[in-house]
Amino acid sequence: MSRSEEPYFKAIFSSLSYLQPKKILEIGFGLGISAELIQKYLKPKLHDIYEIESSIYNDLEEFAVGRPSVRAHLGDWQRQLIKQKYDFIFYDPFDYIEIEGFNYEKWIKARAKMAERMKKLLSVEGVLCHPHFGDGEVPSLPGFTTIIVERLKVSPIRMADETFCEDAAVIFHKPNKEKSCSDKP
Ligand SMILES: C[S@@+](CC[C@H](N)C(=O)[O-])C[C@H]1O[C@@H](n2cnc3c(N)ncnc32)[C@H](O)[C@@H]1O
Repeated sequence: MSRSEEPYFKAIFSSLSYLQPKKILEIGFGLGISAELIQKYLKPKLHDIYEIESSIYNDLEEFAVGRPSVRAHLGDWQRQLIKQKYDFIFYDPFDYIEIEGFNYEKWIKARAKMAERMKKLLSVEGVLCHPHFGDGEVPSLPGFTTIIVERLKVSPIRMADETFCEDAAVIFHKPNKEKSCSDKP
C-alpha cells in the first residue's frame, strides 16, 4: 500500500457515488486513503472498518474521531461474527504481491469462500468492490456478476514488489439473485 494509489481510489469512489450506499463495510484500513474517500464521495450513514494490525488500528481509531458514521473494529474480519448487512463492501486486505509458492488452486478456493461470506453480508441490492490493478481480465467471483465500470490509465502506482502499474479498472461484483420457487417452471 502506498499513497500513489490515491488518484485511482479517487476515481473508484467518485464514479461509484451514484450507487448512494448507506451502509458500508471496509476491510483493511491501511493508510486510510480509501476510508477518507468513502467518507467524502459516498457519505455513508454507517461505515464499519475492520483492521487486523493493532498499530494500524490505532490510526483507524484516530480517524473515527469526529466522524460519527465510522465504527472501528480490531481483528481479522474472517473471525468476527458480523450481523450487519451492507449496501457496499470495499474489500482491500491484499498486499498485491504474488507470495512465493503461490498456489492457484488454493487461491481459487479461498476466493470462493470469501465470495460466499461476502454474499451473506450484502443487502439485496448491495455490491462488492475491490481494486483491480493492470489491464488484464478481472477474475470472476462465484455467485456474482462482475461489472467493469471503467478501465483507466492512472498515474504510476507503486506496488508491493516495487514495480509500477499504470493501468487499473473500476469494477464491482453484484450478487446473482437466487431463483425463488415461483420462478421455477
Ligand atoms: C492494502 S492495505 C489497505 C489500503 C487501504 N485501502 C488504503 O486506502 O490505505 C491492506 C490492509 O488490510 C489489513 N488486513 C489484512 N488482512 C486483514 C484481515 N484479515 N482483516 C482485517 N484487516 C486486514 C492490513 O493490515 C492492511 O492495513
